[in-house]
Amino acid sequence: MQHLITTKDFTNDEIKALYEDAKLFNDLQSNLVLKGKLIVTLFFENSTRTRSSFEIAAKRLGADVVNLDVGTSSSSKGETIFDTVANLNAMKPDAIVIRHSECGLPQSLIDFVDCPILNAGDGKNSHPTQALLDLYTILEHFDGDVKGKKLAIVGDIKTSRVASSNLELLPRFGIEPILIAPEHFMPDNTPFKKEQFLHQVIEEVDIIMSLRTQLERHSQAYYLSLGEYGKDYCITKESVGDRNILLLHPGPVNRNIDITDEMLVDARCKVLRQVTNGVAVRMAILKKLILKH
Ligand code: NCD
Repeated sequence: MQHLITTKDFTNDEIKALYEDAKLFNDLQSNLVLKGKLIVTLFFENSTRTRSSFEIAAKRLGADVVNLDVGTSSSSKGETIFDTVANLNAMKPDAIVIRHSECGLPQSLIDFVDCPILNAGDGKNSHPTQALLDLYTILEHFDGDVKGKKLAIVGDIKTSRVASSNLELLPRFGIEPILIAPEHFMPDNTPFKKEQFLHQVIEEVDIIMSLRTQLERHSQAYYLSLGEYGKDYCITKESVGDRNILLLHPGPVNRNIDITDEMLVDARCKVLRQVTNGVAVRMAILKKLILKH
């Protein structure tokens, strides 16, 4: 049984094959390869894009989707998450998609199920489907020629599961990360190049990935306001100049703090392309894990 808990669960060859499928799904039109299959989603943390992306991906493939409303589920009656999942598993779903604030939780559910578990984000740990759709968007943009491309990851890298999954995955395809963050947002013990400000490296950067400040995961306030942070880290027309970069963000974007309004509508910004690609990539992932090919 194959699960998707971190990007390490797929080899590079598996990812390349996955992307061939995603290309076939690129127009997001219906295709009934998962007709008769049932997918359960369990989101214990807020989500707009990831949850709807999984649901649309499943439905586009003809699967039925049950979204468990965790607010009204038995977790609020004291049932452990392991019992909740074992009970759902007893109803014979074909896959379970889960997001939870606890790092490592999706991995610990594996022994309680007979179907693939798809990690839709566990705390600051991992967000494998986001990294897979980011890499897909980068490969699409550069027509597959990504070896040696430099990616500036800007913002709260330390508490971002998007950053940690991308930092595992992208170097496997030859992309070189440069971490741009104030010291308190910089991960400890990183093998990657670090700089404090984007302007120090902008001339060598091909891709910028801006990240949201993960206020909900901080135990202390680092800035008086997000605006203070944005003064140094917001991606603006001035900060990128004429450089031919690809600008990405996993969403939700804090406008004029992460990226300016002006840059969000700049042709170099592919944030909405990431969202479209996210559905195609999740279609391919669901097909791979449920049909096992
Ligand atoms: C991210 C997440 O939830 O990890 N969003 C997403 O899935 N598209 C990033 C974030 O919340 O900042």
